[in-house]
Amino acid sequence: MPAFTASAPGKIILFGEHAVVYGQPAIAVPVRQVQARAVVRALPGAQAGSVHIQAPAVQLDAQLDTLPPEHALSAVVAETLKELRLERLPACSIRITSTIPVAAGLGSGAAVSVALIRALCGFVGRPLSDERISAVAYEVEKIYHGTPSGIDNTVITYARPVYFVRDQTLQTLELPAPFTLLIADTGIPSPTSIAVGDVRRLWQVQSGLYNELFEAIGGVVRAARRALEHGQPAMLGPLMDANQALLRQLTVSSPELDHLVSTALQAGALGAKLSGGGRGGNMVALVDEIHASAVSAALLDAGAANVILTQVST
Ligand code: PMV
Repeated sequence: MPAFTASAPGKIILFGEHAVVYGQPAIAVPVRQVQARAVVRALPGAQAGSVHIQAPAVQLDAQLDTLPPEHALSAVVAETLKELRLERLPACSIRITSTIPVAAGLGSGAAVSVALIRALCGFVGRPLSDERISAVAYEVEKIYHGTPSGIDNTVITYARPVYFVRDQTLQTLELPAPFTLLIADTGIPSPTSIAVGDVRRLWQVQSGLYNELFEAIGGVVRAARRALEHGQPAMLGPLMDANQALLRQLTVSSPELDHLVSTALQAGALGAKLSGGGRGGNMVALVDEIHASAVSAALLDAGAANVILTQVST
């Protein structure tokens, strides 16, 4: 059995985070500059079921069966075996590497899951459809995020721009005009589950207001889809600003995110907003070619821990 390698990109949510958990649409795109990668190699001579796992970024170097079942990587292996109706893996070593920042809204967890599921399925000679890979990754997301919408595993599995509505058939987006984004990291890790849990509690107490905010976000997302499909990405700028104002009302922005957003706008971005769970993690700005490097420099000056430039096309 040869070694089997699979990769999965990061992602960024362009519009609709949080509201998507409550049934509104959201738009997300893959970010190919960052990747998670899984390599599964046969260990000839070792006993069946013996699985050695390494993830140097998190100082992990252990036998899989010594990890607690709730460990993210154990969960990925267990869910994959369940999907394949296999009792155990042939003896193997697994190595996980990733350039996707953790807990920053770039989908690092889902990308590791998707890369590992694909590599494991390839390794045992039972490749799965994208639909099933996404479904297995979603099972793992549920363990870690409580009530995830499923957008991360979807955009990362298909590695295409998506218009995502929870529990509905996937719609990929055709983009007649490419556009450029800058993604800037506040450097503040922010677990999505905490922001999602806080929004849920606020929604339970003020359901009228929160439902209105979610509806308004849904309206912004639908307008963004029309702009994208008509090849008018510059129109996304004001829509990003509108989405950011609504996210602030949901309480998921933060002083650091607000600072990076206003810095980007002052430096010439066409629009900017937080992306993902919020409270920390990344913001995203739409830029034209003329302003891209000035906005990137301004974001770094303003304290961004990292800035990624990505070109979005179909
Ligand atoms: O923080 P991220 O990029 O994993 O995105 C979370 C997006 C939310 O809408 C806040 C939650 C979800 O499950 O969709």
